[in-house]
Amino acid sequence: MPPSSRMAPPPLAGVVVVAAALLLLLPEAAEPRTLLSLDDFGAVGDGVANDTQALVDAWSAACATGDHTFLHVPAAKSYLVWPVTLAGPCREEIKLFISGNIVAPESPDEWPEGGGGGGEWLHFVGVSDLTLSGGGVIDGRGHRWWARSCKAKHNATENCTTQIAPKALHFEDCQGISVMGITLQNSQESHLTFTRCSHVKANYLRITSPEDSPDTTGVHVVSSRNVHIMDDSISTGHDCVSIVGNSTDVRLRAISCGPGHGISIGGLGENRSYHRVEKIKMDTLFISNTENGVRVKTFQGGCGTARKMKFGDILMKNVKNPIVIDQQNSSSNEIPCGSKNGSAVTVGEISYTDITGTSASERAVTFACSEAAPCSKLSLENVNITMAGGQNASAYCHHAFGKSVGVVVPDSCLGKEDYLRRQGPASAAAAGGGTQEKGGEDDDR
Ligand SMILES: *[C@@H]1O[C@H](CO)[C@@H](O)[C@H](O)[C@H]1NC(C)=O
Ligand SMILES: *[C@@H]1O[C@H](CO)[C@@H](O)[C@H](O)[C@H]1NC(C)=O
Ligand SMILES: *[C@@H]1O[C@H](CO)[C@@H](O)[C@H](O)[C@H]1NC(C)=O
Ligand SMILES: *[C@@H]1O[C@H](CO)[C@@H](O)[C@H](O)[C@H]1NC(C)=O
Ligand SMILES: *[C@@H]1O[C@H](CO)[C@@H](O)[C@H](O)[C@H]1NC(C)=O
Ligand SMILES: *[C@@H]1O[C@H](CO)[C@@H](O)[C@H](O)[C@H]1NC(C)=O
Ligand SMILES: *[C@@H]1O[C@H](CO)[C@@H](O)[C@H](O)[C@H]1NC(C)=O
Ligand SMILES: *[C@@H]1O[C@H](CO)[C@@H](O)[C@H](O)[C@H]1NC(C)=O
Ligand SMILES: *[C@@H]1O[C@H](CO)[C@@H](O)[C@H](O)[C@H]1NC(C)=O
Repeated sequence: MPPSSRMAPPPLAGVVVVAAALLLLLPEAAEPRTLLSLDDFGAVGDGVANDTQALVDAWSAACATGDHTFLHVPAAKSYLVWPVTLAGPCREEIKLFISGNIVAPESPDEWPEGGGGGGEWLHFVGVSDLTLSGGGVIDGRGHRWWARSCKAKHNATENCTTQIAPKALHFEDCQGISVMGITLQNSQESHLTFTRCSHVKANYLRITSPEDSPDTTGVHVVSSRNVHIMDDSISTGHDCVSIVGNSTDVRLRAISCGPGHGISIGGLGENRSYHRVEKIKMDTLFISNTENGVRVKTFQGGCGTARKMKFGDILMKNVKNPIVIDQQNSSSNEIPCGSKNGSAVTVGEISYTDITGTSASERAVTFACSEAAPCSKLSLENVNITMAGGQNASAYCHHAFGKSVGVVVPDSCLGKEDYLRRQGPASAAAAGGGTQEKGGEDDDR
């Protein structure tokens, strides 16, 4: 049956139903609305039947409707869906209201090309104005993928693969996307990925997978702008949030993170690529039992910049590396990706304010920057991190410059900015060439 003949209530009936049932959610219920249910498209929802085509048909119907469309994934059911691409543009705004469960096939062998690596499970492309909400669950059931990963800590078999597992929920070239109030769990690789998207919200999410699951990043932001990640609880085997590519205006607030690998800007510049990450602001983060707290990581020989970042109001508990900048020991001997000598992704204009708590290792602060492009304009203000057992922690600086203000424990090891200026034009350019800041402590490593 063609999707159009199944399209449930006509617009007028839609208005009545919405007004009665969803009044609180839709105070401005004036435009025509269309309500669809996945079950109307032949979905079974028993966790066994293949509901992929039903989802494809429901999406086509929703996408073709000129009204605001609500597509419901009913509660207390489990819809088994194989990898699928849901493409835009669509005529109007769509709300995908997920109350039940959407689950992936468990065995990589059931995937096209025997799970030949990479790719994604639920793939949205070129879509604008889409909201996913509804309190339901998107479950990647990734156990079998993790078991065959060579990165699996415990269960790596002799026939492990280095192929990348699929991303669970991936939005590519999208804008106006909100993912809110649902659970994402056990993804094959990263749970929620945005690539070249703008005006994104990822709020009120619960994202979980086991601590020993490889590569299960919570939210992965790639070359996207205007991204809000707020009020989320994330515990996975990899980064809670990672930001790479050419990303700008990313805001994190009120995130509970851990266990996992913490919050990561990067790795940037791998294989001599160009990345530019800037205007990143994070506050009200609770990070516990993670590998890193807030980390900026770049690779040798890369190009681009990581700058204008603010990390504030963070409480760390038992975090192995609470504050890290890691430029992977970039040296001026590296052949750079660009034409200039000794390039590295430049790192600077980063402030750390009101960060307290405990480090699981002795070194609470690591600024390991490159000779080719020293880190500049770093700022530590009201930072107090001790070891989990109460002992003093330490800070390490290598080619790192900036200032400290107020209480800074362990003592700052940042070099003064004017030291950098004296090094001549090359270093000054690497430092951004701007005005110098005073008040830094003077023990360069
Ligand atoms: C499930 O249905 C989709 C869409 O019809 C199809 O592409 C896929 O191969 C099916 N999967 C299996 C295992 O039959
Ligand atoms: C590892 O293998 C054991 C035993 O086969 C199993 O109980 C456990 O869930 C596996 N862990 C992961 C992360 O797959
Ligand atoms: C590993 O791969 C080899 C060759 O493909 C195959 O013969 C063998 O059965 C595999 N072992 C396991 C444990 O899957
Ligand atoms: C970032 O943008 C630059 C210039 O527009 C481009 O060359 C580069 O490939 C982009 N990087 C990534 C990771 O997309
Ligand atoms: C970088 O290059 C190595 C070796 O060619 C490759 O294995 C790796 O996947 C590449 N990484 C990226 C991010 O492209
Ligand atoms: C950088 O690498 C060189 C050579 O591998 C090593 O001697 C040096 O200690 C490293 N520096 C840092 C800061 O890791
Ligand atoms: C590039 O490196 C070489 C060798 O280290 C040096 O002689 C030359 O001056 C450098 N060029 C620039 C533009 O920095
Ligand atoms: C830093 O925090 C520790 C543990 O909470 C506390 O005992 C200590 O007084 C604080 N130091 C400063 C200088 O505030
Ligand atoms: C810990 O740091 C404080 C403040 O810097 C210092 O007074 C104290 O002696 C240190 N304790 C040890 C055991 O190093």
